[in-house]
Amino acid sequence: MALQKLIVGNWKMNGSVSFVRETLSYWQTQNIFHHTVICPPFPLLPLVKEQLSSPFLSLGAQDCHHKSSGAFTGNTSANLLYEIGCQYVLTGHSERRQYHAETNELIKEKAEMALANHLIPIVCIGENLQEKEQGKTLSILNSQVAASTPSSGVDFCVAYEPVWAIGTGKTASLEDIASAHDALRQQLGENIKLLYGGSVTADNYLEIFSLNNVDGVLVGGVSLKKEDFSRMICNESAIHTQ
Ligand code: PGA
Repeated sequence: MALQKLIVGNWKMNGSVSFVRETLSYWQTQNIFHHTVICPPFPLLPLVKEQLSSPFLSLGAQDCHHKSSGAFTGNTSANLLYEIGCQYVLTGHSERRQYHAETNELIKEKAEMALANHLIPIVCIGENLQEKEQGKTLSILNSQVAASTPSSGVDFCVAYEPVWAIGTGKTASLEDIASAHDALRQQLGENIKLLYGGSVTADNYLEIFSLNNVDGVLVGGVSLKKEDFSRMICNESAIHTQ
């Protein structure tokens, strides 16, 4: 069976109105093959949505609030994200955990709020360098999954992103990715999509896709490079046949 992979582009706090126009009109000339989710900063969501030209392109947000509405200055509700056309939302990205002190418990509430509002949460987990060096990767992943994924429902994704691999150019080894994803598959079952993230590029994603329990990738820096990202989302040879 040919399986399409899921490729998620996280623009973080990058991009502009002119960047959206240029990038999206470039993609209109491309033959997009993989299911691709674009996660721009909040103000750019409607503009990206307006210009999505392929049924394979979907819109995602980088975060949502854990409450449905209220006096939370500067935050955005899952319901509003759904209303403007998002289908996915990242929850618990390591930059949110680090710079906004987000805990597993909060991330779980966000993921559950996303599900309640018809969004598919992509729950991010991953060990830091010290934890890796102490051989704690699998136990950290196990406890992050237990504490930060929704209690019920199967319509969510988990992205394994080693903190030390994000934005550093140091991708985890194939062995490390395989062992983390095999353990996550055991814990989460067959229905949850498992993504890998951390310095994924147009040159290394095919070998990551070739691993058994990798259903897709979460891409930061390279999602801002329109030619490189196109090579990833258009490449039919990336189909993994099982
Ligand atoms: P990177 O970022 O691809 O630039 O390492 C990944 C991420 O933060 O999701």
